[in-house]
Amino acid sequence: MTANTRVLVVTSSILGAHGQSLGLAQHFQRVAQQRGDLTLKVRDVIADDLPHLGLEELSSWQVTEEERTAEQRELAARSDALIAEVLDHDVIVLAVPMYNLGIPSQLKAWFDRVLRAGKTFRYTENGPVGLVDGKRAILLGARGGKYAGTAMDSQTPHITHMLGLMGISQLDSVFAEGLNMGEELKETALSDAHQQIEALVASL
Ligand SMILES: Cc1cc2nc3c(=O)[nH]c(=O)nc-3n(C[C@H](O)[C@H](O)[C@H](O)COP(=O)(O)O)c2cc1C
Repeated sequence: MTANTRVLVVTSSILGAHGQSLGLAQHFQRVAQQRGDLTLKVRDVIADDLPHLGLEELSSWQVTEEERTAEQRELAARSDALIAEVLDHDVIVLAVPMYNLGIPSQLKAWFDRVLRAGKTFRYTENGPVGLVDGKRAILLGARGGKYAGTAMDSQTPHITHMLGLMGISQLDSVFAEGLNMGEELKETALSDAHQQIEALVASL
């Protein structure tokens, strides 16, 4: 990457300061700051408390700016701002807890606003085409159990395909797994994940 690479860190743990994915994101930030040539911004989708995407907000995207009511302008601005933030960064780091085999619903609410036809992807006769070029993504996953590489891991393909829909196909993943399977396993998993994060930061 070029000097002054811009990194957006998206956090989504509901466990506050105890969030393990937050801990991974913070380690990423610490190591990244030591480099001195990376600009970091954090988007905490839990603090943002994004509501589920509903019809009114969706409808606000489907009319031109001139046609929008004041309320529709406000609703459309949510997604516009989140998309602009993604476009403004070179690397998107997603710190993702596993909740009930999936992603936090607040993170889904973020994706629902960032994945927008006509803005970040478009439909063609051959299927959707991503409109977001030249970015890479890093997934920092925290999980109570162990799923990576198994058929039970439906979370990773979901994230991979949502990023892919926008055109972000370069994805590196670090998983801290087995965090609820005993202290020893947890310590090893976190320490391994930290090392992998350090290698990834060095690769930016
Ligand atoms: C509501 C909830 C649901 C969870 N579901 C799963 C699950 O399906 N599979 C799993 O391995 N761990 C599950 N866990 C454990 C979390 O993955 C683990 O606590 C992890 O550290 C969550 O990330 P966080 O600490 O960043 O919030 C769940 C935890 C919570 C709070």
